[in-house]
Amino acid sequence: MRILLLGKNGQLGWEMQRSLSALGEVIALDFDSPAHCADFTKPEGVRSTVQHFAPDVVVNTAAHTAVDKAESEVDLVRLINATTPKVLAEEVNKLGALLIHYSTDYVFNGSGSTPWVETDQPAPLNVYGQTKLEGELAITQSGCKHLIFRTSWVYAARGGNFAKTMLRLAQERERLTVIDDQFGAPTSAELLADVSILALRQVLQRPQDGGLYHLVASGETNWWAYASYVIEKARQLRPDLAIKTKEIAPVPTSAFPTPARRPHNSRLNTAKLQNTFGLTLPDWTHGVERMLTETLGV
Ligand SMILES: NC(=O)c1ccc[n+]([C@@H]2O[C@H](COP(=O)([O-])OP(=O)(O)OC[C@H]3O[C@@H](n4cnc5c(N)ncnc54)[C@H](OP(=O)(O)O)[C@@H]3O)[C@@H](O)[C@H]2O)c1
Repeated sequence: MRILLLGKNGQLGWEMQRSLSALGEVIALDFDSPAHCADFTKPEGVRSTVQHFAPDVVVNTAAHTAVDKAESEVDLVRLINATTPKVLAEEVNKLGALLIHYSTDYVFNGSGSTPWVETDQPAPLNVYGQTKLEGELAITQSGCKHLIFRTSWVYAARGGNFAKTMLRLAQERERLTVIDDQFGAPTSAELLADVSILALRQVLQRPQDGGLYHLVASGETNWWAYASYVIEKARQLRPDLAIKTKEIAPVPTSAFPTPARRPHNSRLNTAKLQNTFGLTLPDWTHGVERMLTETLGV
């Protein structure tokens, strides 16, 4: 089996390089790969690359993920998150191949407190969420075989993310203020990569199981509780670490005005995924502890 992985150096792309390697030949590219275009600002270049390799599976982990920056570069974000994924879907459809793509909790407006199911009506609050939704729709409407996983609050030992920012700030500041009214589940790139290949294997056997799924770790938290967990765990794992933070103060979203609005309720219901693929998703703390152990060199 030939697999084309796009966005290979992102948090998830890196983990997918590992997990996909057990399934077949993996051609892994990033936006600056020299020989074949995998730059999502060049949809026709990416089209040629897919045609050239004629893979059995295309895995797209490339995205414009800078949520605040996205508000001021709408055309660029749309090109990366929607236009080029549409081109991928067209080419995958022509090949009769399968497309794996990732989307976000930010397709929802964050109202209420009930975990969102796949059939709930999306209503993005920001450019990132809007363009990711457009990407999803382009794939589903193309008629290509696909797996789309909506996930949230992604982190990994490699790459930049909230947990690592908190680790750094804890070594710089005595007092931190962190938002406590946005709820969701931190999800490791490692878990996403492992579940993706299990689902992929099943869909290759049972194409009727393709479609849109919510994929996040179990349990829920908010950014303040998540930061508190990270810093407390870091203290336990590395008592020698010079953590300066004495107080982590919870504040409402309104205390941190940002260019992009963010949903308060990012909880995603994963029952469809767990039932279809017979999987159990671990609690979010499990992966965060693993990532901290790795990051802190314990
Ligand atoms: N991160 C999250 O919290 C989060 C939450 C929900 C859903 N998701 C989704 O999960 C997927 C994986 O996210 P992630 O956390 O792995 O994101 P990431 O670490 O930001 O990785 C995205 C990758 O895409 C690359 N990229 C940016 N512009 C590109 C372009 N023009 N052409 C080709 N590649 C380009 C990035 O390169 P550079 O780093 O060099 O820019 C990076 O390697 C994405 O679909 C994302 O929307 C992420």
